[in-house]
Amino acid sequence: MSDWTPIGNRDQVAPEWPLAATVGTLAIGVYEVDGALHAIEDICPHAQARLSEGFIEGCEVECPLHNAVFDVTSGKHLRGEPCRDVKTFAVRVVDGRVEVQAPG
Ligand code: FES
Repeated sequence: MSDWTPIGNRDQVAPEWPLAATVGTLAIGVYEVDGALHAIEDICPHAQARLSEGFIEGCEVECPLHNAVFDVTSGKHLRGEPCRDVKTFAVRVVDGRVEVQAPG
């Protein structure tokens, strides 16, 4: 089991403002949907763009480079450029800090 790693403060995440962080060599984006936080891999599997710089609507993020769309709550690739799903990570808030559980 991986350790929890603090990556920022809860007030740095809003529905259209994800928090981007790097844990070890892993880029992670944390999104708020209906008040809950969700963490996914932040690198688009199609051609490596940072998804946290994409377009967010509800639970969907569209890659800023082409048009792959992912569900940030499940990591599922929904449509657009064909590619795999993105990984998801456990996320929690402790004393106002956002922590993710990701392989170090
Ligand atoms: S890099 Fe994301 S769709 Fe191409």
